[in-house]
Amino acid sequence: MLLEIDDLSVSYRNDEGEVTPAAVDVSLTLERGQVLGIVGESGSGKSTVAMSVARLLPSPPAFYPKGRILLDGVDTLSMPLAQLRSIRGKRIGVIFQDPMGSLSPLHRIGAQLVETILLHEKISKKAAEAMALEWLAKVGIPDPLTRSKAYPHELSGGMQQRVMIAMGLMLGPDLIIADEPTTALDVTIQAQVLRLMRDLHQANSGVLLITHDLGVVSQMATKLAVMKDGRVVETSDDPAAFFDSPSHPYSQGLVREAKRMELK
Ligand SMILES: Nc1ncnc2c1ncn2[C@@H]1O[C@H](COP(=O)(O)OP(=O)(O)OP(=O)(O)O)[C@@H](O)[C@H]1O
Ligand SMILES: [Mg+2]
Repeated sequence: MLLEIDDLSVSYRNDEGEVTPAAVDVSLTLERGQVLGIVGESGSGKSTVAMSVARLLPSPPAFYPKGRILLDGVDTLSMPLAQLRSIRGKRIGVIFQDPMGSLSPLHRIGAQLVETILLHEKISKKAAEAMALEWLAKVGIPDPLTRSKAYPHELSGGMQQRVMIAMGLMLGPDLIIADEPTTALDVTIQAQVLRLMRDLHQANSGVLLITHDLGVVSQMATKLAVMKDGRVVETSDDPAAFFDSPSHPYSQGLVREAKRMELK
């Protein structure tokens, strides 16, 4: 099993010591080759679960009252930070909603890609530069050599998101975590970016796809989980069947609303 989230709870503690449970008793599994879509309204705990997997939540305020997150059987929650850093990027690729949140504004995009490659791969700088350019071309950035010298703010939102996808996928991670990868983009560009993600990730990797957009899930996911108030209220191994007849009343509401939006 690539990823096994086993009875995970995550809470946040504020400065006054008050505790907000954000994920409660969450159990999910993901095999290689699968795309697991997690849907649910804002605040339901989707990002909390996704970011826990790469232990990217600032802690404090986040803490883990219970549970395990097993990546190929090894618990990432109890892993030393040094080991965790070496698997981020290389074994776990993360694509965030906001590219500016994870691209450095101070460095040219080509240099950022090269730095990440050299951190994980024992290859020459020249080979890393060639690889970075190859990935910029793969994600559909025109004139990669010129663009590689641009700073993130000199690119459009769609182009920035493509750079993020290159960053998330280029090292061939086993697990890809995409948290609302297309929410900030125009509808036409959303479709292109989703197609890229689908085409460029290795067939034997697993994808954890977080979105509030059921349309995205129906296009991309091979299985899905519905979250509400920090809990998983429904899972399905057959997204098409789920859309025809969701069983939980909350899922029924989500599907009804998505279909209503489609008719608009
Ligand atoms: N740093 C934090 N400190 C305190 N509470 C937090 C923090 N981050 C998230 N929360 C709370 O945890 C709960 C789950 O938030 P989370 O961001 O995981 O939801 P989400 O499903 O990803 O929502 P969205 O669709 O808006 O991205 C919410 O009640 C939120 O207010
Ligand atoms: Mg979120």
